[in-house]
Amino acid sequence: MTSVVMIAGDGIGPEVMAATRQVLQAAGARLDWVEGHAGLGAIERFGDPLPDQTLELIRKHRVAIKGPCTTPVGKGFRSINVRLRKELDLFASLRPVKTLPGIKVPYTNVDLIVVRENTEGLYAGMEHVIVPGVVESLRLVTRDAAERILRYAFEMARNLGRRKVTVVHKASVLPLSDGMFLRIADSIADDYPFLEYQQQTIDHVSLDLALDPTAYDVLVMENLFGDVMSDLCAGLVGGLGVVPGANIGKRYAVFEAVHGSAPDIAGKGLANPIALLRSAAMMLDHIGQRVSAERIEHSVHRTLEAGVGLTGDLGGNGNTVSITAQLIANL
Ligand code: NAI
Repeated sequence: MTSVVMIAGDGIGPEVMAATRQVLQAAGARLDWVEGHAGLGAIERFGDPLPDQTLELIRKHRVAIKGPCTTPVGKGFRSINVRLRKELDLFASLRPVKTLPGIKVPYTNVDLIVVRENTEGLYAGMEHVIVPGVVESLRLVTRDAAERILRYAFEMARNLGRRKVTVVHKASVLPLSDGMFLRIADSIADDYPFLEYQQQTIDHVSLDLALDPTAYDVLVMENLFGDVMSDLCAGLVGGLGVVPGANIGKRYAVFEAVHGSAPDIAGKGLANPIALLRSAAMMLDHIGQRVSAERIEHSVHRTLEAGVGLTGDLGGNGNTVSITAQLIANL
């Protein structure tokens, strides 16, 4: 048994988390669930959307799975997700994006991984008013953070037997920060001569992803570029309801779906649990329960292929209960 912290989150979070837990149990995952709180519910209970108790739990158990959290806007709270990543130094965000059966999308054979630097860039939160009407937002890039995310991407590419790494940048307008990022990438790439390596601007990559996403494999980039590219790539294979994600640091890992709390469908039993379930499968892989992780991935494929009981975002007329029943039956 491995202990993992479970944060259900807000909106559809508790619905997709409950469904995910049912499938995990049926798949034979050996987990002890430790409940943590974050989001709107945590404000009511602890006066903070990300209470210290929750951070302490993750520090103790090291691995967490998290549903989406709503950050109240204009109430003085910093983004929960940005804070979580910063406090636990979860420096790498991973988004594996792979074509799934049964989902109508313009491309087949997409198989790429977006690796995003998770702690710096514009998300360092350094923004101030210089004079009324003039605001400065600073994009922080440090050598250490650039080195560790680039090294992580190349190591991951090697370990997973991938063929190519693309470093995404905008060095033409950011010659100091992105220039440094590229120089570090060049020197790290020298250690991986067996991997194809290229540098491309963010605009170039955006165009090529729309024309032929199969040309890409591992993509690594700074925080804001990664945020945008992750969602764009999710759209290439069926959208937010199916794409998993992970935030990885040296000591801790937090797994979560790409999507938010979906207030428009929350409480209606319509949410698709597949994105969170696949994030849970990544978690199982991470903690060494690979057999259960593979069973879940196979079940997701079979369920999508069969097309029975699917939720509305997948073109079906089912709901969370019906798709969960299919996911369990197909294990
Ligand atoms: P969203 O991802 O919640 O929703 C966008 C659209 O996708 C909506 O139409 C929604 O119904 C649909 N959708 C999302 N997940 C779905 C699922 N599993 N099944 C079926 N349909 C699904 O994005 P939005 O509306 O921009 O954000 C809502 C809230 O979520 C905001 O408060 C935002 O801050 C928060 N958020 C939290 C994240 C996290 O905790 N990791 C990530 C993104 C947003």
